[in-house]
Amino acid sequence: MSTAYPLGIDVGGSGIKGAPVDLEAGDFATKRLRIPTPEVSTPEAVCEVIAQVVDHFDEVRGSSPIGVTIPGVVQHGVVKTAANIDKSWIGCEIETLLEDRLHHDVVVVNDADAAGVGELHFGAAKGHDGLVVVTTLGTGIGTAIFNEGVLVPNSELGHIVVDGHDAETRAASSVKTREELSYEEWATTRLQPYYRALEDLLWPDLFVVGGGVSKDSEEFLPLLDIRTPIVPAELKNRAGIIGAAVLATKTQDARGRHTED
Ligand code: BGC
Repeated sequence: MSTAYPLGIDVGGSGIKGAPVDLEAGDFATKRLRIPTPEVSTPEAVCEVIAQVVDHFDEVRGSSPIGVTIPGVVQHGVVKTAANIDKSWIGCEIETLLEDRLHHDVVVVNDADAAGVGELHFGAAKGHDGLVVVTTLGTGIGTAIFNEGVLVPNSELGHIVVDGHDAETRAASSVKTREELSYEEWATTRLQPYYRALEDLLWPDLFVVGGGVSKDSEEFLPLLDIRTPIVPAELKNRAGIIGAAVLATKTQDARGRHTED
């Protein structure tokens, strides 16, 4: 194979999904692979599944970078929080663990940061300067902040306190499902105060709304009364994988430059 593609791997609550990414096209280079997340999703168990995904795409990837997303704060390769995943992730040196297992450099990032980067490069945030806040509505709420195209990592604005509650415990789409809220109830009583609080704090130029529920965005985004333009994400469930591949490539390039200095 003459062209090698970076690999993006998105670790979610129900599935671990990966695909080689064509960074020119901003899309998967081949069909993605999805393996169910192990029931007891400890770092070791998840690493084994990630290794299977990497093996599967070995030929297509060549020696290109590998980017992995985790639904928690990831600082310098170490997982710091685990709001919706097994608590054994906290303190896990995930980059080292994966590199030892795979014998290859790995870049591990927060899932919402990766999804945001995907949207910034190839989706709804493309070409938008200024301050952009990407939110992912799912089991929890993930956020990615960009100023003039530069990511401020690990923003964790899903946990701001709104009306005395950790925002994601009221406004995530899992809460809509659990409490059987209609789109209207969810939009007016949960999303409205959340996005209003966010815009009062940050004064963004644009909100992008991702997560599985964004496919139904016309059911709830028009109901929001906020001053900031708000649009649905465009890459849908491809954003995390694509963003992880972009971030891994950028990080590897930067590390390469450092070694040359
Ligand atoms: C976590 C974030 C994550 C988001 C979406 C939140 O509970 O704290 O790190 O990005 O869920 O998975």
